[in-house]
Amino acid sequence: MRRPFIGGNWKMNTDHASARSLAHAIAEGTGADWAADVVVFPPFPYLLPVAEAIAGSPVALGAQDLSGEVNGARTGEVSAEMLRDVGASWVIVGHSERRHTIGESEALIADKLSMALGSGLRAVLCVGETRAERDAGKAHDIIAAQLRSALAAIDAAAMDDVVIAYEPVWAIGTGITAQPADAGEAHREIRSALAARYDARLASGVRVVYGGSLVPATAKSIFAVDGVDGGLVGGASLKAHDFLALCTAATVGVAAS
Ligand code: 13P
Repeated sequence: MRRPFIGGNWKMNTDHASARSLAHAIAEGTGADWAADVVVFPPFPYLLPVAEAIAGSPVALGAQDLSGEVNGARTGEVSAEMLRDVGASWVIVGHSERRHTIGESEALIADKLSMALGSGLRAVLCVGETRAERDAGKAHDIIAAQLRSALAAIDAAAMDDVVIAYEPVWAIGTGITAQPADAGEAHREIRSALAARYDARLASGVRVVYGGSLVPATAKSIFAVDGVDGGLVGGASLKAHDFLALCTAATVGVAAS
């Protein structure tokens, strides 16, 4: 049985004080026997204070990005070792804002994923199509191509440490959540791409989560879809009450599916 996963991607939001208090509130709201992986992804400067705030709780710490290089002359970059050094155990790779707004290439995303896994971090690999790609009927081809490229150098054993996030670009920050049927179809497509790259057994063991305008009101129907193992949350993860409601929905909804 796949353990539900729920991540809060804070993006470029919060400040020192609000990051700490948000992390405290989330840590306080999750009990010791929490039946899902709950991970918060604050901005780099707040990794350490958030690590302190969640210490002793079931909440894990993740970073939103990492360098594809080990160390050295890379001004502004943050290495996998640095992330581990401040207590991060997860990292997001291939988020659509980095693919489309910042311009990361498929090759760079593949390097970052290899670096993360090779350094002992667990990774959330994001894939998803734009509105134009969906309208052109290319959504599944795009997702499959993103997976093929990112996973080309990742062996089966390392996939234990990978969560795939299906984040349709048109659903991110727009208030438009994907229809449960569309999310279900995309998740099936992701598993069949994983089966083609590895095998059916591995594909059925990898967690695949949904991201894009998830709020408590829409989460229940998404988490009830067969094959959806939780979510990666942006805006709603900045409000402790909403994020905790989503954590509960993931635990209950995914476990029941
Ligand atoms: P929103 O929940 O704000 O749409 O963001 C989703 C996302 O990009 C999570 O990584």
